[in-house]
Amino acid sequence: MTQMNTRVLLARRPAAQLVAADFEVDTQPLGSVGEGQFMVKNTYLSLDAGFRQWMSEGSGDNYLSSMPIGEPVQSIIMGTVIESRHADFPEGSIVMGRTAWEQYSIADGSDFMSIIDPDPAVELHEYLCSLGPSGMTAYFGIMDIGEPKAGDLFVINAAAGGIGCIAGQIAKAEGCSTVGIAGGAAKCDWLQETLGYDQVIDYKSSETLEQQLQRVAPDGMDIVYDNVGGPMLGTMLGQLAENARVILCGAVSQYEREGGHEPVANMWELITKRAKAEGFMFSDYVDRYPEAINYITDMLKAGSMVSPVNWSEGIETTGQGFIDMLAGNNLGKCLVKL
Ligand SMILES: NC(=O)c1ccc[n+]([C@@H]2O[C@H](COP(=O)([O-])OP(=O)(O)OC[C@H]3O[C@@H](n4cnc5c(N)ncnc54)[C@H](OP(=O)(O)O)[C@@H]3O)[C@@H](O)[C@H]2O)c1
Repeated sequence: MTQMNTRVLLARRPAAQLVAADFEVDTQPLGSVGEGQFMVKNTYLSLDAGFRQWMSEGSGDNYLSSMPIGEPVQSIIMGTVIESRHADFPEGSIVMGRTAWEQYSIADGSDFMSIIDPDPAVELHEYLCSLGPSGMTAYFGIMDIGEPKAGDLFVINAAAGGIGCIAGQIAKAEGCSTVGIAGGAAKCDWLQETLGYDQVIDYKSSETLEQQLQRVAPDGMDIVYDNVGGPMLGTMLGQLAENARVILCGAVSQYEREGGHEPVANMWELITKRAKAEGFMFSDYVDRYPEAINYITDMLKAGSMVSPVNWSEGIETTGQGFIDMLAGNNLGKCLVKL
C-alpha cells in the first residue's frame, strides 16, 4: 500500500493577521529517497514565532527566502531516520533540523540538520525546547550580548513564550533580578509562580508600560532582552541604565504588520546611556551549542529549571497552534506532537 504523507501548506499570502484559511491540510503519496537523502518520520514540530516573518510577500532576506505558496510551511522538526541513502544519517538516528509541517520529511543533511545524542535523564522533546533553538537563543543572547553580572536588572518581553521561559531562568541563575513582561494578569501570575520571575509587567493592563517600567526599574534596566520590537522596544529604550545591554532577538509585534517594520523610538538614549544594542541569530553559535547544552542540562537535572510546553497534538492542529501562539494564548514553548 502506498504510504501517505499529510502536510500543512501555506495556501496563500496572509493578510496582516494569520487566519486558519491561510493554511491547507493536504495528503500526498510519500516521495522516494534519492542518493544522498534520508527520510525522517517526524515526532515533534516546533512552532517558532519568527517563521511568521517569512510567510509574507517580499519577506525574503539574507537569512531566509519568503516561504513559497502551495508548499509545506517551514519548521524546525525532530524525528527518526527510517530510511537512508546518506552515510552521515543512518537509519535509527534521532535528528533535528529545518524541514516543514509534515509527517515525513525527505532531507539531505543541510538546513541545520543534526543528529541528537540524547541524555537519557532528559526528556527527548527538550532537544526542541530548552536544549534546542529556544534554549540556544536564550543562552547566547544573554551570555554574549547581555553579559550578565550579579545584581543586574534583567527585563524581557514575550517572557512566557518559548524563549522567554528559558531566558528568565538563565538570567536569574546568573544572579540577575528578573522582570517578565507578558499580556494579561493570569499570564503574569504564572510567570512569577511557575518561572520564578522576581517582578512582572502586564503590558495589557490599564497602567502604561512606561509607568510600569519606571516603577520596577527606577534606576533603569541593565539588560533588556527584546523579542517584540516596534513601539514596545522604543518604550523600553527610554528606561535604560547606564551601560545597558539590549539584546535584539526578535520583533514579533512587527511580523503581521502591513507596510513593514515600524521605526523604533528613543534611539538617542543608547548614546547618552552609553548602551549597546546588538542583534544575533541563534544559528551563529552552532560551534558553541555544547556549552549551552551542558549549562542547561545541568540546570534541568538539578531541578533548577522548568521547561513548560504548550502542547498540541496531530498535524492538523499545527496551523491553529501557530495562530494561537502569535495571539499570546500559550504558556511556554509551543510544540506539536505527531
Ligand atoms: N534571533 C534568533 O535567533 C531567534 C530565534 C528564535 C526566535 N526568535 C524570536 O524570539 C521571539 C519569541 O519567539 P518564540 O518562538 O519563543 O515565540 P513565543 O514567545 O513562544 O510566542 C510569541 C509571544 O509573543 C507575544 N506577542 C505577540 N504579539 C505581541 C505584541 N504585538 N506585543 C507584545 N507581545 C506580543 C505573545 O505573548 P504575550 O503577548 O502574552 O506576551 C506570544 O505568546 C520572536 O520574536 C522570534 O522571532 C529569535
